[in-house]
Amino acid sequence: MMATTNIRTQTLDLYRRHVSQGAALIAEQAGAGVEVRSEGSRVWDDQGRRYLDCGGYGVFLLGHRHPDVVAAVHAQLDRNPLATRALLTSELATAAARLARTAPEGLEHVYFANTGAEAVETGLKLARAAGRRRVIAMGNGFHGKTLGALSVTDRPSLQRPFRPLLPEVTMVPYGDPAALARALASDGGRACVLVEPVQGEGGVRIPPDGYLAEVAELCGQAEAFLIVDEIQTGLGRLGGTWWACQKEGVTPDLLLTGKSLGGGCVPVSAVIGTRQAFRPLDRNPRLHSSTFAGSPLAMAAVLATLETIERERLVERAEQVGAKLMAGFAEMSGSGWPVQEIRGRGLLIGIEMRTPAQAGALTASLLENGLITAPPLGDDSVVRMTPPAILSDDEVDEVVHALHQSMGQVAASAG
Ligand SMILES: Cc1ncc(COP(=O)(O)O)c(C=O)c1O
Repeated sequence: MMATTNIRTQTLDLYRRHVSQGAALIAEQAGAGVEVRSEGSRVWDDQGRRYLDCGGYGVFLLGHRHPDVVAAVHAQLDRNPLATRALLTSELATAAARLARTAPEGLEHVYFANTGAEAVETGLKLARAAGRRRVIAMGNGFHGKTLGALSVTDRPSLQRPFRPLLPEVTMVPYGDPAALARALASDGGRACVLVEPVQGEGGVRIPPDGYLAEVAELCGQAEAFLIVDEIQTGLGRLGGTWWACQKEGVTPDLLLTGKSLGGGCVPVSAVIGTRQAFRPLDRNPRLHSSTFAGSPLAMAAVLATLETIERERLVERAEQVGAKLMAGFAEMSGSGWPVQEIRGRGLLIGIEMRTPAQAGALTASLLENGLITAPPLGDDSVVRMTPPAILSDDEVDEVVHALHQSMGQVAASAG
């Protein structure tokens, strides 16, 4: 065991030698400690410093180590964590039925995977199996870093070293139904359309109200295959409904989820789809599979997560907590914050600063003041918060206070 006082130095050294020199450098420059423990909305580092976690890239909607999820995972670990797959897995069947119950009517088939990008790959394959080879994806969108997911992600700097990527991908401006209509018109209806309800990695970009419904309508008219990527927005994160597409009465061919699905304890993602979209896998389940997909351990986490979200009314709480945070920010921001805009839906919040340097300084200052956030992968001017829905009123005040303090520090150093 490493002595606690040396753990950071030793971890940095091991990163440099065995993980990534770049990752070590970034952590060193940010003064990041080593994460050693977590519980609820809190995380502790090796120096015993306690943080309020509003980061985690959208994974911790239930906070860390929710006791019901931990108990279910423990029990499954003691019973049968990974299945042989020679026999049936009842946990998989139960979790699939439970997840489908939360989704728009008509989405009843589920394929579980391990990561968001894997769910995207599955979606792209099912679209192809349905005869849709061309993908229309959105400018500034993010769907992951495996080759297929990267091909439909609008990040040239991440794509460049890996070209050629998937062919027949068209990007259209996000939030612009007319542009989508033009792209669909040039397609003869053989397209797959991929869209996020709010672009999380894109800097918390919120489209005009009714956009998703218009996208669905256009897809319906063109007989295009619609995939809604709710890996970041789903399971109630945007507040009010389980899925953002339910806010606009949209039923896509496929709905993608991940991140919070494992309750912050186990990595798991899923594709929820119509019977028609899943027909290729009905006919031949070997067409698409993965060794660890749908493991009993992950399924126990999924089931406990869904039940916890329902029992603790986290979908409603996400809306309430998000509204309280935004009200607190609005009240404080009058006092000269160097901010361009603060925008959000539920518990997906973006704080856009005037420059990337200010956003970097704000992230660092917030960490210093005990608040963890996550920079979006696609907009360096934005500091993103994805707080847990279990935040208490005192913790909401703590977030507002930390932001106020840090905004003051950023303003002082800029001025
Ligand atoms: C909307 C969206 N899709 C897909 C992904 C990829 O998920 P993962 O990092 O688990 O592969 C992300 C990750 O941030 C995401 O936000």
